Amino acid sequence: MTAAPIYVEPRLPDPRGPLSLAVTELLSERAPANHLLQVEASLADADPYGLDLHLALYICYELHYRGFAGVDTGWEWNAGLLHLRGRMENTFLTEVRRQVGEIDPDVTAFDEMRELAIEPADGEGLSYHLRDKGTWEQMREYFVHRSLYHLKEGDPHAWAIPRLVGQAKAAFVAVEYDEFGAGRGARLHQQLFADLLDAADLDSSYLGYIDHVPAEALAAVNLMSLFGLHRGLRGAAVGHFASTEITSPPGSQRLVAALERMGAPRPCIDFYAEHVEADAVHEQVVRTDVVGDLVAREPHLDRDVVFGIRAHAVVEDRLAEHMMSAWADGTTSLRRPLE
Ligand SMILES: [Fe+2]
Ligand SMILES: [Fe+2]
Repeated sequence: MTAAPIYVEPRLPDPRGPLSLAVTELLSERAPANHLLQVEASLADADPYGLDLHLALYICYELHYRGFAGVDTGWEWNAGLLHLRGRMENTFLTEVRRQVGEIDPDVTAFDEMRELAIEPADGEGLSYHLRDKGTWEQMREYFVHRSLYHLKEGDPHAWAIPRLVGQAKAAFVAVEYDEFGAGRGARLHQQLFADLLDAADLDSSYLGYIDHVPAEALAAVNLMSLFGLHRGLRGAAVGHFASTEITSPPGSQRLVAALERMGAPRPCIDFYAEHVEADAVHEQVVRTDVVGDLVAREPHLDRDVVFGIRAHAVVEDRLAEHMMSAWADGTTSLRRPLE
């Protein structure tokens, strides 16, 4: 079977401030032979959750995924650019650590995962809002915010694979195998989300909405890339992965209910229905075989797993609150409204 040609490499986004300008200006040139060139960019006043920092960081990470059309691939391992990326990561991670706060020495990853699985039937979060009174316009905005992640679903966590061993690795890959369509390109969860976007009359191209989404949506994906690309944060990457899988089935169930109530096109419902079923199995595998095995082998990573779970909640809550407050004010939650 031959695939239709697609644009694998997206267009380089427009800058939104001094950091993203410094990065995009560099990337428009050839990567220099001198790797140690310092990049002039100040982080002194950078907002750790600001759009400029998160767009610049997102662009740096994207060099490791699909790159950008016309951008020299030599930039991926340019030490000068990596140095700037490291400083931005540090600014972001320091703030996330501050928000997560002290982790009680008695808390274990096992307790934390058990707690995650307990959800009220009548909660107040975003998926409850969408289920009970959300509009189709709000749902389409939700798809747009989520498109950055779902169009590369599975990829940011996949960086963790070479850092795992034994049962934890085998089980992690078993879950990722499903995320990647279990051998069938048409069943890649990334593809299922592209189908959802097409059915909702939205742009399904990779990074198609990078100029529409706020910093909160970029930060949610940057956190995964940050955890995945640093071996020292592998415990946090596994915690983030566990949290994603454990919280997915009930949240997806509410989105199925929301979409059915709205009379949404079938591919939209199918994407979330797939996550109700598949993630119920993934949840069990992740708890016992991934996290259980990892912390048995490397007990010092237990707290990092807890940190990953809590950091996931911090960034996801920021994005959800952003959407909810925009909608409460009767405005769009996107930086530019959908046509
Ligand atoms: Fe998935
Ligand atoms: Fe899953």
